[in-house]
Amino acid sequence: MNPSIRSVVRTGIGLGVEVIGIENGYQGIFDHQFIPLGALEVSGKIRDAGTFLATTRCMAMMQPDGPAKVVEILKQNKLDALVVIGGDGSLTGAQKIHHLGYPVIGLPGTIDNDIFGTDMGIGVDTALDTIIHSIDMIKATAASHRRCFVIEVMGRSSGYLALMSTITTGSQVAVVPEYKHNIERIIETLNRRMQRKHNNSVIVVAEGVCTGQEFMDELLAAGRDRLDQEVRLTVLGHIQRGGSPTHFDRLLGSRMGEFAVLSLLQGETGAMVATVGGTMRLRNFDEILGKKRALNADAIRLAKNLGIEIGDVTE
Ligand code: F6P
Repeated sequence: MNPSIRSVVRTGIGLGVEVIGIENGYQGIFDHQFIPLGALEVSGKIRDAGTFLATTRCMAMMQPDGPAKVVEILKQNKLDALVVIGGDGSLTGAQKIHHLGYPVIGLPGTIDNDIFGTDMGIGVDTALDTIIHSIDMIKATAASHRRCFVIEVMGRSSGYLALMSTITTGSQVAVVPEYKHNIERIIETLNRRMQRKHNNSVIVVAEGVCTGQEFMDELLAAGRDRLDQEVRLTVLGHIQRGGSPTHFDRLLGSRMGEFAVLSLLQGETGAMVATVGGTMRLRNFDEILGKKRALNADAIRLAKNLGIEIGDVTE
């Protein structure tokens, strides 16, 4: 998120706009946590993970009169427009603010890549980079000790991170919410690898299916007396959100931040900046929010053609 905030600030001041940062998300509006931002305040932020403005869940915003109070406070503080960076909840808040007639543009900021309407969200690539480096390191133990590793990754109800990291680490099984896993086929996959002298396997489990521990328990119960290898679990947890932004995310955040400011200055509102086929676009909140993003069909085909066990399509 930091590269996108930096871009909003630098683009804004370059075009003669005064930029005010709001600390702690919507809660910061209720608490009047406004700080003027200039080039110095965002210096070096293109390299930093997370958001230097900090963020928090805001119960007040979820009350029926929350969005109206937000608009009132913004107007009282002579703020003319808002850029909101966040996932589904933050963007839904922005949609409500838009419906009250206040100018707002959203940016998709979530590692889960579960926002409908954009190919990529800000932070997804960095999270994947952290996941693949972690799995690469775990593979050393897996190979040295003839082990199967179960790796739990984030993603909320999306299997995007699990699927993409399975493909890009050469792992064998992706357990994702969009497909129903087949424990018998998974056991066959693991045993076949051992017979073919591959001495290790990696199963990536999306947290949206179950915990890594629950999956491991299921695997060990079903594979008792049949699995010819030890199984270990690693839960990657919040390190997935802590990597220094990759080249892709620095560029995406910069492009989206710039596009948000240019859009507002052109009178646009009520939309999220999206990247579609490499091009920046605005997608109206009303057309995208509430829609479920499916896993990319090309990625599913690729996974299957690479021999990854992914389970069966659910109804
Ligand atoms: O939505 C981003 C995300 O990192 C999810 O992948 C994860 O389930 C969740 O946030 C974790 O949230 P928290 O830090 O509040 O535990």
